[in-house]
Amino acid sequence: MNDKINRLIKLREECKLGGGKEYIERQHSKGKLTARERLELLLDPDTFIEFDEFIQHRCIDFGLDKRRAPGDGVVVGFGKIDGRPVAVYSQDFTFIGGSVGEMHALKIARLYEAALKIGVPVIGLNDSGGARIQEGVDSLKGYGDIFYRNVMASGVIPQIVAILGPCAGGAVYSPALADFIFMVKKISYMFITGPKVVKAALGQEVTFEELGGADVHAKLSGVVHFIHDNEEEAFRDIRRLLSYLPLNNMDDPPIVEPEDEPDRMEEKLDSIIPEDPLKPYDVKEILELVFDEGSFFEVQKLYAPNAVVGFARLDGIPVGVVANQPLVYGGSLDINSSDKISRFVRFCDAFNIPVITFVDVPGFIPGTAQEHGGVIRHGAKIIYAYSEATVPKITIILRKAYGGGYIAMGSKHLGADFVLAWPSAEIAVMGPQGAVEIIYKREIAKAENPDEFINKVVKDYREKFANPYFAASRGYVDKVLIPRETRPTLINLLKLLLMKRDLKPRIPKKHGIMPV
Ligand code: HXC
Repeated sequence: MNDKINRLIKLREECKLGGGKEYIERQHSKGKLTARERLELLLDPDTFIEFDEFIQHRCIDFGLDKRRAPGDGVVVGFGKIDGRPVAVYSQDFTFIGGSVGEMHALKIARLYEAALKIGVPVIGLNDSGGARIQEGVDSLKGYGDIFYRNVMASGVIPQIVAILGPCAGGAVYSPALADFIFMVKKISYMFITGPKVVKAALGQEVTFEELGGADVHAKLSGVVHFIHDNEEEAFRDIRRLLSYLPLNNMDDPPIVEPEDEPDRMEEKLDSIIPEDPLKPYDVKEILELVFDEGSFFEVQKLYAPNAVVGFARLDGIPVGVVANQPLVYGGSLDINSSDKISRFVRFCDAFNIPVITFVDVPGFIPGTAQEHGGVIRHGAKIIYAYSEATVPKITIILRKAYGGGYIAMGSKHLGADFVLAWPSAEIAVMGPQGAVEIIYKREIAKAENPDEFINKVVKDYREKFANPYFAASRGYVDKVLIPRETRPTLINLLKLLLMKRDLKPRIPKKHGIMPV
């Protein structure tokens, strides 16, 4: 028996070497960790249970019959993060560039199936040259199997992917189907076609970094949710992200022991909104003061910064936060911020995370660029996402809530459970200036002194609509708050809403047609 046990121990040691010592050195020389080193950093110590470590490919073409390694270039199994179970796969670039062949894909697909049955999040650490070219269509089949499982798992278990190397061609679609993507600067790349193909097809010279580096995807494309300077920081934030999420859609988000006072009244909140309605302020200052201290965790920080989304806690209870950011475009909505908000709200709804919305929106950005880019279709997504969401929804109108922006940003009319407003709220069909120019077009044309006339009617309009009380008189606002009352009020309402059961009378249907 001892011999047999020793053989197993030896085989296990072989598995740990992946593609061999030389390739491990190469991996380190590129500033990258190996698949197993990554898992050690990501997971709680000594919690990883690996399986399928002896799986090998069965390709005999193009010399692959002589190139085999146990595990076939991906390490899969279950481990724990903060004591909670997760499924993980970590691609091993040291074996044939972490390329995805039939058996490599099979391991990931089987992991997904197990994770779905058990109901635990899947975390993928991707570092791969893409489809294993020698295996031809078998590797494409493998990718298809993974994509299918990504879709089946969507909205059932959280899916998080860290890109820690190249990710090219169709390979990008598995991360794209996941909920959150992390990238690490200088080692991660994502593109459908690489710089060589771009040069051949379009004659454009572009570097890997310019085409699909971390910065590009975090700021311009919006494909990626978090970027970091190194792998350690990325793992730290994956762990932090998970601390706000339930294990699956039947589970509740984990409530932590609160370290902040629930009835903390922040007087600073009373003076954050400037007297001048045209003056901007940083909405993140408000979020920091309202939520449990240090609990706000921003998602897609660099993309569409005119909207802010992220997770936070109220008396230890995780919530999703959506806010307009007056520092950028005065907080107006546009195509990118619509995508950002709607996707985030849908994620929260799928995973039982209440949504708290802070509104200061003068409307949608006008102009041909936005119209031709389909702002109508994109803006509609926000309305769709809020209307569809059945999780507790609380909205706080801080200042401007004009027109379509007012309706879209979690208004009462789209099913908000409670709408609160600060005394600075201005809830109106449009801004005073624009409104009077339409209503009083003829009078302005005839006026002896048009500016004086406009100033007078703007003042009248402002008195009537640019406050929360007209909307409150109609019942569109449930409560007007002194800003400092926001935190305790939110906590009380949130606790009440944890008992919420939304049984919307729905006509049976397969699914709606979201304006994607
Ligand atoms: C087979 C591959 C491979 C692949 C890398 N390797 N990618 N083998 N299939 N897709 C092998 C390399 O030949 C090399 O083998 C080893 O992995 C390490 O790769 P290097 O090139 O030495 O590493 P590096 O210099 O870091 O370059 C990494 C790379 C480059 C940028 C990823 O390897 C590369 O361009 N690979 C091809 C990428 C690609 O075109 N993939 C798309 C495939 S089609 P040795 O023998 O030296 O150890 C596709 C479609 C998917 O993915 C569609 C899904 C729906």
